[in-house]
Amino acid sequence: MFITFEGIEGSGKTTQIKLLVPVLQAKGYDCVFTREPGATEIGKKIRAILLDASHTAMLPLTELLLYEADRAQHVHEVVKPALAANKVVVVDRFFDATTVYQGYARGFDLKLIEQIHHLVLGNLKPDLTMVLDLPVDLGLKRAWQRINSQSDLSEDRFEKEDVAFHEKVRQGYLALARAELERFRVIDASRDAEAVHRDIVDVVLSLHRQIFK
Ligand SMILES: Nc1ncnc2c1ncn2[C@@H]1O[C@H](COP(=O)(O)OP(=O)(O)O)[C@@H](O)[C@H]1O
Ligand SMILES: [Mg+2]
Repeated sequence: MFITFEGIEGSGKTTQIKLLVPVLQAKGYDCVFTREPGATEIGKKIRAILLDASHTAMLPLTELLLYEADRAQHVHEVVKPALAANKVVVVDRFFDATTVYQGYARGFDLKLIEQIHHLVLGNLKPDLTMVLDLPVDLGLKRAWQRINSQSDLSEDRFEKEDVAFHEKVRQGYLALARAELERFRVIDASRDAEAVHRDIVDVVLSLHRQIFK
């Protein structure tokens, strides 16, 4: 079973995955948690290129293709083998994030992104994609609180974008969810973490029962 978590910065993806994985493990599910970029050896090198602040000349197309190169390796080395072994795979942001950030927010051609995803993913699709939805100002407030409480700032590039950008991201996720009701669940992430967690556990367990009945 393949589950992805999506949502704007500060929506609580990492928090919720950390709460979900032990619950699934306690229920006896063999559970793998990964994130992009950098889940593989080659991916770690791609990630270093992506996060290098001196790479100011990087074209948006180059950035997109590096993310996709990392993803191709991640899918081949980690996701597919784990699914083949009947594990539950949880990913903190996957291809929908590229569609939304590069496409909806930055204006990259959506058809082109779709074609690249077809090339990289083939028929692979998450069984379930959780969109943690909340107002942008609340997400950014949380994200800033997180930044202030940690020393590693390298991962917070997107949080420096303006509010309008994050609004496009939020609306992009909601548009994807409306277009693919089967795969997506939109969760109200403005509530406290425990309430959000309970909803997520309910959705995951009921889908797991459906798939493995
Ligand atoms: N439901 C919640 N209510 C209040 N604060 C939260 C909630 N969920 C997460 N946080 C806090 O908000 C910050 C961002 O959460 P995080 O899980 O890192 O979001 P994301 O991974 O989506 O960017 C963290 O400091 C986290 O502790
Ligand atoms: Mg996170």
